[in-house]
Amino acid sequence: MCGIIGFTGRLDAVDVLLHGLAELEYRGYDSAGIAFFDGPAVDTIKTAGKVQILADKVERNHPKNIHCGIGHTRWATHGGVSDLNSHPHTAGQVTLIHNGIIENYMHLAAGMAAEGIYPVSQTDTEIAAMVINSFYEGDPIEAIRKAVKKLTGAYAFCIMFADRPGTIYSIRNGSPLVASHFKDGSVIASDMVALLRYSKDYFVVPENHIVVLTEEAITVEDLEGNQIRPEMLHVSWDVSAAQKGGFPHFMLKEIYDQPEALRNTIMPRITDGMPDLTQDGIPDELFTGCSRVILSACGTAMHAEMLGRNMMERLLRIPVSVEIASEFRYSNPIVDDKTLLITVSQSGETADSLAAIRLVKERGGKTLSVVNVKGSTIARESDYVLYTHAGPEIAVASTKAYSVQVAALYLIAFHWARITGKCTDDQVRALVEEFIHLPEHVSEVLSHDADIKAISQKLIDCHDLFFIGRGLDYALSCEGSLKLKEVSYIHSEAYAAGELKHGTISLISDNVPVIALATQKDVYAKMVSNIREVRSRGAMVIMLTGYDMPTEYGLCEHQIRIPKCSDIFAPILMVPILQFLAYYAAVGRGLNVDQPRNLAKSVTVE
Ligand code: F6R
Repeated sequence: MCGIIGFTGRLDAVDVLLHGLAELEYRGYDSAGIAFFDGPAVDTIKTAGKVQILADKVERNHPKNIHCGIGHTRWATHGGVSDLNSHPHTAGQVTLIHNGIIENYMHLAAGMAAEGIYPVSQTDTEIAAMVINSFYEGDPIEAIRKAVKKLTGAYAFCIMFADRPGTIYSIRNGSPLVASHFKDGSVIASDMVALLRYSKDYFVVPENHIVVLTEEAITVEDLEGNQIRPEMLHVSWDVSAAQKGGFPHFMLKEIYDQPEALRNTIMPRITDGMPDLTQDGIPDELFTGCSRVILSACGTAMHAEMLGRNMMERLLRIPVSVEIASEFRYSNPIVDDKTLLITVSQSGETADSLAAIRLVKERGGKTLSVVNVKGSTIARESDYVLYTHAGPEIAVASTKAYSVQVAALYLIAFHWARITGKCTDDQVRALVEEFIHLPEHVSEVLSHDADIKAISQKLIDCHDLFFIGRGLDYALSCEGSLKLKEVSYIHSEAYAAGELKHGTISLISDNVPVIALATQKDVYAKMVSNIREVRSRGAMVIMLTGYDMPTEYGLCEHQIRIPKCSDIFAPILMVPILQFLAYYAAVGRGLNVDQPRNLAKSVTVE
């Protein structure tokens, strides 16, 4: 939610900011802006619309010899999408950009109004700039220190003071920031992808610390003025991993990344044919000592957990629940010291998922997170973390992150079943043997791209669509439906196939597409009946089945089969098909697949 970048150094700062904003645009694309020192003056160029519109506006203004500046791409929360509400915002000596929400901004604005000071925009961010400015008497650090005591909510700020050319100040609480000093200067941003052109070494800005960036160095100090040395991290992937690599969209590229992402996530955790989480530093006692398991996350990550729950309950025979993180935290959940919360998150920054972790820790439970972004807040705040290795996921719609999240949860289930004796070594070995070959089978599924594209053309003009499935297929239907909705804007619903007749079947009429997932042998006959029910009401059925499921005449319009595998692994082979359907339906409708309207990739607000 909002991407921010700051740079000071020997390079052309405008170029650095615009490149960075293009990399960060997945975080929000309602408006964009930059501010920079042009000699002793601070200039701001901002606009509603995408980074390209900003770049065109910047080009017309021709700023030259700029070496220090800040840039922002916005996902609007407080204040509509307009030039005026775009960041950066200026109040007196202070110009800043912000990612997050200042929750008490109304109260602060009322205080300012009492002194006859009014904002020009409708944003909470401008109020923050006014608060910092009100404390500014020539010492930026002191002003920031005093101001943050007044602010509640989440924030990452990059701040320039008009009389401090060449220096950027920064502080964060809740919202992400990473920074790096390299040979040509210092750079700070919401996400490592924006730093990658300059350095692979970076640090996560510690919360509630003031960071000062100059061409020569970056310093970090706590609010008491004690300097600290943050731990340096290194990214193993290179800049090409965050580029389209010849694909027309990131989403398509990331669908194709899945075999490698799965391999990278699974293989380092297999030793002698058995799951092994020792390199993750996760002790067996975490699993043996718990009697209640809660899986909590949002959106796609939560759908991955639905599959994870099924696998855990199947193998472990202990109750596992899946909780929508935004609901969980307000549900006064029952948590004790025998509760294990497993949080799944691609970004590691999702505000609701993070809040669930904090709540469980407060109540004495243990926390394990499955996270893609190294050093992210969720990773750091959880007791233990298992990193997925999907590489950077840039398209707003999550694809490869989902597959590796499912794989990671399966791995945990296998390991847990083994150490608790719920499965014998031979049983686990057999599961792992098939599991490690999944990436090859996913590649095979991907080779059917063109066939799936052809079928997706049937969806382009429809208004409503239904996904149905049972068991694991129902869990996967939820993800298929979400993917289609978010990128193609076609309304769709995922239904447990047996539930349809309890109301929703009234929506099935002539040619309404129904995508029926039927890979699970134990419920296949039931699925066939459910498919017949919708067929007889005119539905156009696209059936996704296992390699050897019998086909009955007239059961469906189209059938796609996945390669041979045990039923429990079918979702991992099936998901690329659902992703292709969503992708090609969206492309067919002429939409911006990588940046669907109203969305942002990293949801750092509640
Ligand atoms: C959908 C999607 C979202 C995210 C959700 C959680 O394609 O990407 O539903 O899955 O916002 O995000 P993370 O995984 O970053 O916590």
